[in-house]
Amino acid sequence: MDVAEATATQQTFDVERVRADFPILRQQVHGHPLVYLDNANTTQKPQAVIDALSDYYLSSNANIHRATHLLSERATRAYERSRVLLQRFINAGDSREVILTRGCTDGINLVAQSWARPTLKPGDEVLISWMEHHSNIVPWQLVCEQTGATLRVVPIDDRGDLRMDEFDRLLTERTRIVAMIHVSNALGTIAPVADIVRKAHAAGAVVLLDGAQAAAHVAVDVQALDADFYAFSGHKMFGPTGTGVLYGKAALLDRMPPYQGGGDMIASVTFEKTTYNSLPYKFEAGTPNIAGVVGLGAAVDYLNSIDRDSARAHEDGLLAAATEQVATVPGVRIIGEARAKTSVLSFVMKGIHPHDIGTVLDNEGVAIRTGQHCAQPVMDRYGITSTARASLAYYNTASDVEALVRALHKAQELLG
Ligand SMILES: Cc1ncc(COP(=O)(O)O)c(C=O)c1O
Repeated sequence: MDVAEATATQQTFDVERVRADFPILRQQVHGHPLVYLDNANTTQKPQAVIDALSDYYLSSNANIHRATHLLSERATRAYERSRVLLQRFINAGDSREVILTRGCTDGINLVAQSWARPTLKPGDEVLISWMEHHSNIVPWQLVCEQTGATLRVVPIDDRGDLRMDEFDRLLTERTRIVAMIHVSNALGTIAPVADIVRKAHAAGAVVLLDGAQAAAHVAVDVQALDADFYAFSGHKMFGPTGTGVLYGKAALLDRMPPYQGGGDMIASVTFEKTTYNSLPYKFEAGTPNIAGVVGLGAAVDYLNSIDRDSARAHEDGLLAAATEQVATVPGVRIIGEARAKTSVLSFVMKGIHPHDIGTVLDNEGVAIRTGQHCAQPVMDRYGITSTARASLAYYNTASDVEALVRALHKAQELLG
């Protein structure tokens, strides 16, 4: 989308109405209106989510699935309602396939330990990409150490696109699982996940997709994608921290042993033999983040209440405008120019450390992230140690982009 199209889209999406739902955005930071461009790190929460959390504690707080009293029934109903909302949000066929987790990291570790650890043998391979978040690297390194399997990595090209020729070469009959990022948090690349799933299945491998950066930005349909596992975090899609989802196909989840032992995940316990609860509870040991899950349900309700296609077009327009304008700041080099991108603009500035860019921007009220973004191999790939990263949500505006560019010019004047 070019800037003219972007401007037209921005006129059809009522961003000011949406912004009014996010109270945190109304504040001043260092004497400037807050410009929040750190959404890939975590998103802000609409009033509806904040209200759901406080309403839960004001009127329904109790433990779930256990007691017979009214509050426990209310809490259980609210918790399970969120599961169904999340099931519909990703178009899973069955709510038993929606495991409520602490976040994306938790979901990936669950698959690594509960599916991969009992499955992998020496000689088997796990295939990931060069643009994974550490959360989709380290769990596989751990399980490779535990099982003797080998980790293989698909490179990316200079633009930040996955090298599909290398994917085709590295995907063999030894590949047991392909674990791929859906949207890169460091580069914004949207990976060709439909193609990846199709090819992996043809090679006999199962597929896990890391949807941490996708859920808030692109429509996710796990049945259409045919993903075997899909993990994401609540806090990156306007919900509370400490919540997330692992989707898994029931046929796979049913055969997997529990991840953790404890309350709620059992059918019966004796010292001689314990039997496990049915899906999804088999994978939800202990008291979960009940309030958080209720809040995540409110976040899904909120997302359902906005026109997500227009929101996406609005974000795409802002990304196009930001990319064009940031590139004109002297000394800027954009990191990540993939053909399909969403919401993330990473860059470096000649002679200025990204942390210093971050500090100057913060003084101007502009919040971005600087560092390696938990994606050190991506930094190594580009021969840099870190980037500055502006990341968008649909509540950002054209004037946020202008403030970013103004502040970058200031950083250039002060430090360049
Ligand atoms: C692509 C990607 N995967 C995984 C994660 C981990 O998410 P969480 O820390 O919420 O578990 C992140 C967080 O930034 C991410 O961007």
